[in-house]
Amino acid sequence: MYSSELHAFGEKLLKEHQIEIKGKDILFAERFRTHLYAIENLFNEIYGDHPHRNKGFDQLLLSLITHYKERNATFIQKDADKQKVGNWFLSHEITGMSLYVDRFAENLQGLTHKLSYFKELGVNFLHLMPVFESPAGESDGGYAVSNFRKVDARFGTNEDLEKLIHQMQHQKMYLMLDIVLNHTSYHHEWAKKAKEGDSFYQDFFYFFDDRDLPNQYDQTMPEIFPESSPGSFSYVRELDKWVMTVFHHYQWDLNYRNPYVFNAMLDNVLHYANLGVDILRIDAPAFIWKELGTTCQNLPKAHTLLRLIKKCVQVASPGMALLGEAIVAPAEIIKYFGTDDFTAQECDIAYSATQMALQWDALATGDTRVMLAAQHDILQKPYGCTWINYTRCHDDIGLGYDDYMIERAGFNPYQHRTYLKNYYAGWQEGSVAAGALFSVNPKTNDARISGSLASLCGLQKAVEWNQPHEIENALRKIILMQAQTMCIGGIPMLFYGDELAYTNDYSYLQDSGKSYDNRWMHRPIMNWEKNEKRKNSSSFEGRIFLATQKLIEIRKSLPILSDHKNITWMTPHNIHVAGFVRSIENKKLFCLFNYKHAGSYITWHAFKEHGMLPIRLLDHWTGESYQVGNDHEYFILPAYSFAILEVLE
Ligand code: GLC
Repeated sequence: MYSSELHAFGEKLLKEHQIEIKGKDILFAERFRTHLYAIENLFNEIYGDHPHRNKGFDQLLLSLITHYKERNATFIQKDADKQKVGNWFLSHEITGMSLYVDRFAENLQGLTHKLSYFKELGVNFLHLMPVFESPAGESDGGYAVSNFRKVDARFGTNEDLEKLIHQMQHQKMYLMLDIVLNHTSYHHEWAKKAKEGDSFYQDFFYFFDDRDLPNQYDQTMPEIFPESSPGSFSYVRELDKWVMTVFHHYQWDLNYRNPYVFNAMLDNVLHYANLGVDILRIDAPAFIWKELGTTCQNLPKAHTLLRLIKKCVQVASPGMALLGEAIVAPAEIIKYFGTDDFTAQECDIAYSATQMALQWDALATGDTRVMLAAQHDILQKPYGCTWINYTRCHDDIGLGYDDYMIERAGFNPYQHRTYLKNYYAGWQEGSVAAGALFSVNPKTNDARISGSLASLCGLQKAVEWNQPHEIENALRKIILMQAQTMCIGGIPMLFYGDELAYTNDYSYLQDSGKSYDNRWMHRPIMNWEKNEKRKNSSSFEGRIFLATQKLIEIRKSLPILSDHKNITWMTPHNIHVAGFVRSIENKKLFCLFNYKHAGSYITWHAFKEHGMLPIRLLDHWTGESYQVGNDHEYFILPAYSFAILEVLE
């Protein structure tokens, strides 16, 4: 709401900081004025009653101005270019890869030399797993940050990162980095000061004098790593106090009830924007607000904080989009795009964790009905926002979709999940998967799944057993999984190694800093000699690399695959086949995926729904074209295959 007092204060600040409101800074000044009231309202929602509210708010506005002033001209120009395009991240021309710098290319310099590899594959967007300082052995893969501004020596220097970014800009590549918002390492300067008894910094975390409140919280807070880090609180000997540690004991949760914590982390967010980040991955946003008596996940104030960050970014560095890494229940994920007045104004992007898990569900059961039942929730994504679509990432696969989805498909949720876990752990009779259960919770029977794409698809075992038929099936499954990810709408994000069919790497068991966490089995170390095999199309590596490359090319050639919320699921005609239509203006593209170990038949009638009668279809994958037949005739999809069918006439 307009307030003349706030307006005057804002104008005074702009003037004091020599913002040329009629000159070169005109766009910034406009954004600052436009969003000022919303920023104040959001800030007040959280900190309105805090004794340091005024100081905190002034500090925040100052931070917006100083970060804008520090932003280099290239990025300011990019902001303007992106704003002209609108929601640039909806584009079918973006394909990403997520990787560990050291495991992929030793260090940042090595990665800079590998940029041509991404070009060869067609990848133009990189997610670098956390590169900032994090104590070896207690790093959670870099998600326990001890210095948000300093690149960890393992990867190189800040200068190396800048050089890499410069090269990426030059090659028109996009960059994603993480902001680990929920916690810091207990070696972070703030935690160290807190441990030394500094009360200002103790208020950066959640400290408790005894177990009273922690015990109460424990009643309702689910455990994240029940095996390796049970509970959500750790004892701090130096202070004889307990501190909240939702993830590992070495990751201390930040206290966002304190405006100085918010401001300090916002400074880091804007600092990353000024490094040249195109998409900021907000790690674990579901956890940033805690309240006694709740699960301490997905709380309304967590959304308020994210909205506030979004507004601040829109003012200081509007070209940087926000990805909320909320791996939660399907209906909760959607809320990270914003609700009510903030629809499409919170996170621009979220992981389609439900769709990812449901593809694994379909692969294990050969049945796509649960996937279909979930679309009601998944399709709630507002226009203007998008998904990261993926088959694997560095984390485990959680089966966190709703029971009703499983029931609607005619299964018993408990038995169904048990089957899936047994299947991917390789215990189920007939299973070719070689994964492992992650974070088994004996109290709730919950467990998630680890394992590389190729190993979960059966390649590892098929090779061990020397079974050519199973090898063939495994390769087809890998391509099928990637194909659906590429066609469904959103940014496909490959996980490094999957484009070369890397199977599980068990070397983590020899490293005491990793052996407690079996997610490391699917975080391979690249072997560049072996990667040369991609040039031989009859090797596994070559076959999968070429297929991935081809899928990316097809995607880039089809603007209809941009995410304009232009997807309609087909009526199920065959439970083994997932199918949807992408459409734009008068164009249509049918995408069909057969999750069965044998051929599946689809009546041609299926193509005549949605008020049109196509005559001829072209499959972009095989290059074959088809005359649409009579309703009693069939389009046939071979085992674990797919079709990307454009309506030609
Ligand atoms: C996110 C990361 C995961 C990490 C956790 C704690 O979920 O993806 O790897 O363990 O946050 O930071």
